[in-house]
Amino acid sequence: MLGNFSYINATKLYFGDDSLKYLNEELPKYGKNVQLIYGGGSIKKNGIYDEVVKILKDNGKNVIEDGGVMPNPTVEKLYEGIRIARENNVDLLLSVGGGSCCDYAKAVSVSVNCDEDAWDKYFLRMEEPTCEIVPVGCVLTMAGTGSEMNGGSVISNHDQKLKIGHVFGDEVMPKFSILNPKFTYSLPKRQMVAGIYDIFNHICEQYFSGEDDNTSDYISEALMKSVIHSSLIAIEDPEDYEARSNIMWTATWALNTLIAMGKTEDWMVHMLGQSVGAYTDATHGMTLSAVSLPYYRYIMPYGLKKFKRFAEEVWNVCPEGKTDEQIAEEGLKAMEDWMKTIGVSLNISELGATEDMIDGITEGTFILDGGYKVLTKDEIREILRKSL
Ligand code: NZQ
Ligand code: ZN
Repeated sequence: MLGNFSYINATKLYFGDDSLKYLNEELPKYGKNVQLIYGGGSIKKNGIYDEVVKILKDNGKNVIEDGGVMPNPTVEKLYEGIRIARENNVDLLLSVGGGSCCDYAKAVSVSVNCDEDAWDKYFLRMEEPTCEIVPVGCVLTMAGTGSEMNGGSVISNHDQKLKIGHVFGDEVMPKFSILNPKFTYSLPKRQMVAGIYDIFNHICEQYFSGEDDNTSDYISEALMKSVIHSSLIAIEDPEDYEARSNIMWTATWALNTLIAMGKTEDWMVHMLGQSVGAYTDATHGMTLSAVSLPYYRYIMPYGLKKFKRFAEEVWNVCPEGKTDEQIAEEGLKAMEDWMKTIGVSLNISELGATEDMIDGITEGTFILDGGYKVLTKDEIREILRKSL
């Protein structure tokens, strides 16, 4: 049965190859001081930085630079961003980059006017903001996380060997997000496919839970088919606008909470992947792909009905003359073949994980109970060993 829920999505989207011009419509809504958040320099190379700064200047804004947000933003960088925002009395946090910049902007947004330690309050104690939140806007340059239309923020603490995500409420979601698929053309192929797998796995995390007949699972199947189809085009021709725009749009729908409404969710691949990330600082999507097959093969018997449906509906496995187990296994094999074709990591060793890290990664993996099997620490250790 579809559970009860309330739903709002607070983010206004502008989508398309001319969408950056709508920044002119959004900026007048905010005060003069704009903290311009970006990463390690890709936006300077591909020209997006110049375009955005021109629009900011045309609108009379003071641009406060906050570059250098690293993939998997750290707690140290978060403290720096909070300091910059406070010193400059910032009115808008404008993230121009991928999920890391947008996540970071949200973490700064809830911390500027908060006296408590941001890491302890939001990521260890998982508290909600009680202070005034500085608005966030986003110009997205990488498709994957869905951060552009959700309240999620993931921060890494390397000293504590923890990478933790907090899903904040709708008041923390970006007020607006600008999605121009052409901005993703300059992504290195490895980042593009990591993003594609991230999208696919977000859908899986919400799909592989529960056995009810619900609309969310039908939407999920359509989104999975779309991202598989477009991924195969994009790896051949990264400048295929149709494929890149479908990938970008699917990323947003995969994790703007819609497909989770009224049903339970799994998220154990992300828990495993995040802990691998805390130890290796590897690319998020790759940490997910590297643990996925051992995880799904392990839980498959506990959720056989859904894995059979996944095989038939998403991978067109023909059920004739086969047992349910065989059908489900063929589905996972088809998924594995697709993962090989697009070129995502299939083991954590190539991401820098070693045998002696396994106990620590196991310890750092949060156990959630929405999937088909609530894992024990021993089972997590075994899945991680199989992922090496
Ligand atoms: O830093 P720059 O120089 O900009 O380079 C980035 C970075 O190296 C590069 N890049 C981005 N757009 C580009 C580009 N290079 C060339 N051309 C472009 N157009 O790509 C690299 C990765 O960027 P990043 O923002 O780190 O990637 P992604 O969007 O995958 O974000 C990853 C972070 O998001 C978190 C992850 O854990 C990770 O910390 N997640 C956030 C979620 C959420 N908010 O809901 C959910 C996800 O599951 C995920 O956990
Ligand atoms: Zn993800």
